[in-house]
Amino acid sequence: MLIRRPPRFAMNDRDVTPQSSYMNRRDIIAGLTAATGFAAFPQTANAKVAGPETYKPLVGSKTKYKVEDPNAPWKAVTGYNNFYEFGTGKDDPAKRAHTLITDPWDVKVEGEAENIGTFALEDLIDFNALEDRIYRHRCVEAWSMVIPWVGLPLGPILQRFAPNSRAKYVQFFTKNDRKQMPGTRWPVLDWPYREGLRMDEAMNPLSFLAVGVYGRVLPNQNGAPLRLVLPWKYGYKSIKSIVGIKFMEEQPDTSWNLSAPREYGFYSNVNPQVEHPRWSQASERVIGPQTGLRGALARRDTEMFNGYADAVAGLYAGMDLHKFY
Ligand code: MTE
Repeated sequence: MLIRRPPRFAMNDRDVTPQSSYMNRRDIIAGLTAATGFAAFPQTANAKVAGPETYKPLVGSKTKYKVEDPNAPWKAVTGYNNFYEFGTGKDDPAKRAHTLITDPWDVKVEGEAENIGTFALEDLIDFNALEDRIYRHRCVEAWSMVIPWVGLPLGPILQRFAPNSRAKYVQFFTKNDRKQMPGTRWPVLDWPYREGLRMDEAMNPLSFLAVGVYGRVLPNQNGAPLRLVLPWKYGYKSIKSIVGIKFMEEQPDTSWNLSAPREYGFYSNVNPQVEHPRWSQASERVIGPQTGLRGALARRDTEMFNGYADAVAGLYAGMDLHKFY
């Protein structure tokens, strides 16, 4: 069931609906099946978030990956999230994700590779070799934030599993635990959340596995303890709290493509020329230090591949990006 709503043009639900009915309606919306999809102009969040000092520090070496614009505030990065396993509201993850147990954490590696098996997080990630990378994070809902991540490039980690010649794609899975992740009690998406990449996309130096943000371990709402960051793709490709990696010959299923294929394609590259069927992707609302969560809508034009065309356009040479969206 696809629920189509007209864009609310930044109008907050609270502005038009009394608090009590808003809460009811919101509970109902949270329980509806999914294909509700994303809303073009999401509500602003107002979660109380724990400060950075709450999280263990991580040391990452500086890399060339940075963005000229200032970082989004910690409060926005950790308080305005999408993590549907904890609810569909932007502030649900910050309020609820504390129930996720992130230590110990194992990742199961399977499929078309030589070194498959189950690996502890500490065996996958060398915490003494972390890098700092500042990337622009562009959500399909047409907002963006500049976020300073800490982690490691994905490619060399995948290579350690020695994918074989049949490995053309790689799929990722999020943990799926009803007790720890209350949002999975509703069929908002087909759980577990899953995502996929072509191998050459995964091997691109921009693809990044994050274990931290702002020099601290990831808060649960940001996908602790291990999440993907794919700066040239819409945010939903950057899957959180990864427990599975599968090397595949065929193009894998992805959660949002299963849910609403016309709206969310396999590639999901940021592309201002390809409209989402329900809203434009030509510009984006910037959540930055000046605008905060509730501030005026600072907008910028969306860039092809989110500004990373130099690094990734070659991956799609000759492909019709209106067809392979
Ligand atoms: N991963 C899982 N497992 N579940 C989710 O709901 N939401 C995606 C992505 N990864 C999501 C997920 C979406 S829509 C976005 S925009 C980003 O996470 C948001 O990342 P952030 O909350 O750290 O900004």
